[in-house]
Amino acid sequence: MPKDSLSITDNRTGKTYEVPIADGTIRAMDLRQIKTGADDFGLMTYDPAFMNTASCRSAITFIDGDKGILRYRGYPIEELAAHSTYLETAYLVINGELPTKAQLDEWQFQLADHYIVHENLKKFVDGFHYNAHPMGMLVSTVGALSTYYEDSKDIFNPVARQHQILRLLGKVPTLAAYAYRHSRGLPYEYPDPRLSYVGNFMAMLWKRTGAEERYAPNPVLERALDLLFILHADHEQNCSANAMRAVGSSHADPYVSVAAAAAALYGPLHGGANEEVLKMLREIGSKDAVPGYIKRVKQGEMRLMGFGHRVYKNYDPRAKIIREAAHSVFNVTGTNPLLDIALELERIALSDEYFVSRKLYPNVDFYSGLIYEAMGFPTSMFTVLFALARTAGWIAQWQEMLLDKEQKIARPRQIFTGHATRAYVPVDKRK
Ligand code: CMC
Repeated sequence: MPKDSLSITDNRTGKTYEVPIADGTIRAMDLRQIKTGADDFGLMTYDPAFMNTASCRSAITFIDGDKGILRYRGYPIEELAAHSTYLETAYLVINGELPTKAQLDEWQFQLADHYIVHENLKKFVDGFHYNAHPMGMLVSTVGALSTYYEDSKDIFNPVARQHQILRLLGKVPTLAAYAYRHSRGLPYEYPDPRLSYVGNFMAMLWKRTGAEERYAPNPVLERALDLLFILHADHEQNCSANAMRAVGSSHADPYVSVAAAAAALYGPLHGGANEEVLKMLREIGSKDAVPGYIKRVKQGEMRLMGFGHRVYKNYDPRAKIIREAAHSVFNVTGTNPLLDIALELERIALSDEYFVSRKLYPNVDFYSGLIYEAMGFPTSMFTVLFALARTAGWIAQWQEMLLDKEQKIARPRQIFTGHATRAYVPVDKRK
């Protein structure tokens, strides 16, 4: 009977150690006992960028990158995309179970109560330059929410924590809409709790002040946006979830932790990629120019944005769903001319040895921007939409981390590569 353990022989000392294997992992702390002598700190692992290190135990999202599988709390993303709504999915991701009808109604009712933000938050947004990036505005205003709620630091009190969860989910769309309207020079629109979560967001963005009594969202576009939000709700331990957990592990309040997570998302290698995809498609300009562009990518001049993923070594299941959903949107909005370039890019890349051998497939960001653009969003809003949807995942990851008895303040080790001790040299003696 094979034992669930690993025998390690340290060739420096000839000693052998046995460390347990559980869930396909060994504990890095079990290596600390491996020493060459009393002064030795003990063996560590070196894993820049967490390429092969599990930082937590999590029951939220499952990904099999080789098979292209994504599940939230056990439910396949394809089923949630077909049958669920973003609000229901957010409930599932955060609470672990699909809500009953009564729980869902209550959830929707409570959230609608929190759409509104304090009047003077508008002054923060007003302070931004007219061309400020909306992600910069969102990061700052979500962080600013921390200063409004005295119970925001009471993170181990379940009642207070639930308040912050509702406030975050309720107010992030409002802040996102404020950022959008500020960049357009438009007056801010108050939320309309009679609309759905996504319908209300659309109204805050696009309601024509003074000209429209009530905004009626187009049901096809409302559903498409809701679907995109479902697909973006969580994605296990990515860069921004890791930021949320790391900042939250110091017991900072959830608003500043979400601000940190949103800042991580802002980068072009993470959520900023959807914006870069559109810039890239515009730069390519036509189908004929695709082979030349691919050649430049292969020469290492640039990356093909919206392609490749740390975990997926197969077609990203979210990209597949978005690609199919694009048609229903384009039926309403008219097609996006950049779609032809994107399809040609995908066709050539998926048959090219460079991309095939590296298992580089379209990721979630490859097609989402085309839909957002067709709906009328400027490219600078794309990452904001990602952040809005991902807020549910960040909250779930944060709460799971807080309640996990094994978690402590996140504090990695380093391999020190600097100077050994040096004597201080006064400035007049330095060469
Ligand atoms: N275009 C061209 N080559 C690529 C690409 C790409 N998009 N992505 C990876 N490669 C190559 C890379 O040059 C390397 O080649 P080699 O082995 O010859 O050096 C190999 O593939 C492995 O790349 P890596 O950088 O080690 O992979 P990673 O896991 O560190 O990076 C990634 C993952 C997503 C950062 C990367 O694929 C990338 O930069 N993609 C473009 C940006 C993008 O679309 N990001 C969105 C990710 S999905 C949404 C999200 O998580 O926010």
